Amino acid sequence: MTQDELKTMVGQAALQYVVPGEIVGVGTGSTVNKFIAALAGMRDRIQGAVSSSNASTELLRAAGIPVFDCNNVGELAVYIDGADEIDGAGCMIKGGGAALTREKIVAAQARRFVCIADESKRVPVLGRFPLPVEVIPMAAERIRRQFAAGVGGTRGEATLRLKDGVPLVTDNGQHILDVRGLQIADPLAFESEVNQWPGVVTVGVFAHQRAQVCLLGTAAGVETLKFDPRNGS
Ligand code: A5P
Repeated sequence: MTQDELKTMVGQAALQYVVPGEIVGVGTGSTVNKFIAALAGMRDRIQGAVSSSNASTELLRAAGIPVFDCNNVGELAVYIDGADEIDGAGCMIKGGGAALTREKIVAAQARRFVCIADESKRVPVLGRFPLPVEVIPMAAERIRRQFAAGVGGTRGEATLRLKDGVPLVTDNGQHILDVRGLQIADPLAFESEVNQWPGVVTVGVFAHQRAQVCLLGTAAGVETLKFDPRNGS
């Protein structure tokens, strides 16, 4: 099975977590795009979606699914999104698509985070995937030095993400640093610490907003991983 087929499989499997009659939280990325395609088939049975990026909003609208502003809706039953890495406790690295800030906002509004991913995303320790951090541009160089000096017993090399040769600008008008070489042994503590650095908008560690369920696409089918909500690291 190709990686694309695995993504289609988990995108379809995620429909079982969508609550009829409600508004569903929708993430961003190539796996979520498969979910949006599947969700189009049940658009008449949901009120609509809250979206985590301009890209997903465009796809949802093209599929005939109404998109609501976070501020106009209450708690969501479920948020469905992909991940760049997921560990054995449901903690994730996200933001490879630069949508991490809005993803974390929508995830925080949902009772349950269902992660959809192919099996290549499963890791014992977060950090092999370069950690995305959304930053206010004037703070980028100092934050780069802070990662080089070390945080939570690990250090990393941060580089500014470029697009077409110039710094990528997020949906929120900010920049992204990608940090290589980290080994994030305690994701909750790491996320809390980096969140406090001045100029950090969002760090792409999702430990406070970790997944409760992961639908993992494997050659043998969809594996459902359930994480203990009390275990955050
Ligand atoms: C977007 O910013 C990310 O958090 C994505 O959810 C993550 O990169 C997974 O994307 P893919 O489904 O494309 O691998």
